[in-house]
Amino acid sequence: MSGRIPRYFIDDLLARIDIVDLIDAHVPLKKTGTNFVARCPFHSEKTPSFSVSRNKQLFHCFGCGVSGNAIGFLMDFSHLDFVEAVEDLATFAGVDVPREASDHPNSAPKKENVSDHYLLLEQVAAFYVESLRTNEAGKKAVNYLKSRGIDDDCAKEFMLGYAPDEWQALANRFDQHQLIQTGMLIDKDGRAYDRFRGRIMYPIRDKRGRIVGFGGRVLDDSLPKYLNSPETSVFHKGKEVYGLYELLRKDGKPKRILIVEGYMDVIALAGYGIHNAVATLGTATSQAHLDLLFRFSSELVFCFDGDNAGRVAAWRAMEATFSALKEGRQIRILLLPGQHDPDSMVREEGGEKFGMRVQQSQPLSDYFFSTLSSELNLNEMEGRSQLINKAKPYLEKLPQGVFREMMFARLNELTRSSGLDVSVKSARLAQKPISNKSQANRPLPLTLARRVMALLIQHPQLIVKVEQKEIIWEGLEFPGLQLFKDILTDVLEEKPANTAILLEHYRNHPNEKTVKVLASLALFPQDQKVDAEWVENEFSNGFENLLVQARKEADFQKLLAKNKKH
Ligand code: GTP
Ligand code: MN
Repeated sequence: MSGRIPRYFIDDLLARIDIVDLIDAHVPLKKTGTNFVARCPFHSEKTPSFSVSRNKQLFHCFGCGVSGNAIGFLMDFSHLDFVEAVEDLATFAGVDVPREASDHPNSAPKKENVSDHYLLLEQVAAFYVESLRTNEAGKKAVNYLKSRGIDDDCAKEFMLGYAPDEWQALANRFDQHQLIQTGMLIDKDGRAYDRFRGRIMYPIRDKRGRIVGFGGRVLDDSLPKYLNSPETSVFHKGKEVYGLYELLRKDGKPKRILIVEGYMDVIALAGYGIHNAVATLGTATSQAHLDLLFRFSSELVFCFDGDNAGRVAAWRAMEATFSALKEGRQIRILLLPGQHDPDSMVREEGGEKFGMRVQQSQPLSDYFFSTLSSELNLNEMEGRSQLINKAKPYLEKLPQGVFREMMFARLNELTRSSGLDVSVKSARLAQKPISNKSQANRPLPLTLARRVMALLIQHPQLIVKVEQKEIIWEGLEFPGLQLFKDILTDVLEEKPANTAILLEHYRNHPNEKTVKVLASLALFPQDQKVDAEWVENEFSNGFENLLVQARKEADFQKLLAKNKKH
């Protein structure tokens, strides 16, 4: 990996491939009319509402509202980030991804050897595995693992190893400079020595299986119990979770993911057939962790010890996750009884019973209200008003949507039992019928400006109709004017060969959502015969009318302003 992927390459790539072939390779498509359809891979449905357009090179689901181009499809379907999706698409097209030379003199050489880092860490992990099996002291480690109930298969699955109790075990075998860069050596006053010594080693893999760091545990009660790799160019504790790769290898689309606290919890659960657990790396769960995990499953279950520390941690996790909640995302809280952690629990009662606990865990909304009201007496007005005061700051952080409405409704229900008015806002929200439509599905009012914009987005070749026109923007006024100008300029200058490429120019742009909606908007009545000529006329006439209307509006405003002065 090195510099940025040049824009021209992405445009060319999107022009070169056919999204129909790409998606068909993942989700078999059926041809109907000019479109290709399938049952949507992003939500469950009985009749197909997922449609792929060869002309626009886009997919769109009328059911759940997802849409995008080939890159977007790979990101959503294969859970890839942008660069990974471009790389996969390039492989599909049989081309290599070029990189721009980086502007920063320092970043180029640093980034260049990132792939060397992965390679080195892989070799180090293999060395640790080897030491566990052959090193004399490794036997002690094997015995320790056995005493913790970890069998050979499990050790293999998680690639567990042993770091010999020596100062230079790695330093003598691998490139020192690279070892330091990957955090495997500590460099003190010019003397470098192994960070991990005499420890059981847990390689931490990213979602693609590349080793990015290690955790290391002592074999006895000495401290510190764990050491972790420091932050490096390939390892960010706030972004990685332990066990995700191993989980995805068993099931790429887990129904739910369990978030536990310790390495040993993940491994013990796997030993009992529960393969859907991951652990954060000794840090609290971050927004990036949640985003990562919600890419693979819509339900996350936080699992904590039942002791006081566990309760505190559960509340903290709840606070951190609250603002990430929206429809289709569920969080549950599982507090284990007494002093148990998942490791000891599953060993005591077995995988089946543990699985039942997970299934019966508390939805976040229940957990939230029951925790908040646990010390309040809701039969008294004072208790109810305290509940409102405590709950509202949290609920107000929730993103707009059905979940927020439901939470306000619940608060209303809990506190209104004796006629207490919660707030105008929440009461109104509570009474509103709950609709299942997602934001993206709600139709935009189809103004003339939107219609003209949508026509151009869906048929960028229409630009030839206005290319020669001299448009005087001065004084023109209508809602969406800026976006209209932006799109027009983009199409004029970049000449995107299809809608997919135009859409790509709006990735991460504040108007991305709007442009996406316009790209998938149905513009013609079902029975309208749509040929190229008809579309051209619609666009030309619409464009003319829009300018005339906007001009009239501008003149009118001018007149108003003038009259005011007199
Ligand atoms: P066991 O004690 O072997 O059962 O390990 P565990 O994985 O269950 O660990 P525990 O529940 O005690 O701690 C949870 C997680 O916190 C660990 O997996 C580590 O990521 C982290 N952690 C615990 N102790 C330490 C420590 O001493 N130093 C660091 N850096 N992290 C620790
Ligand atoms: Mn433990």
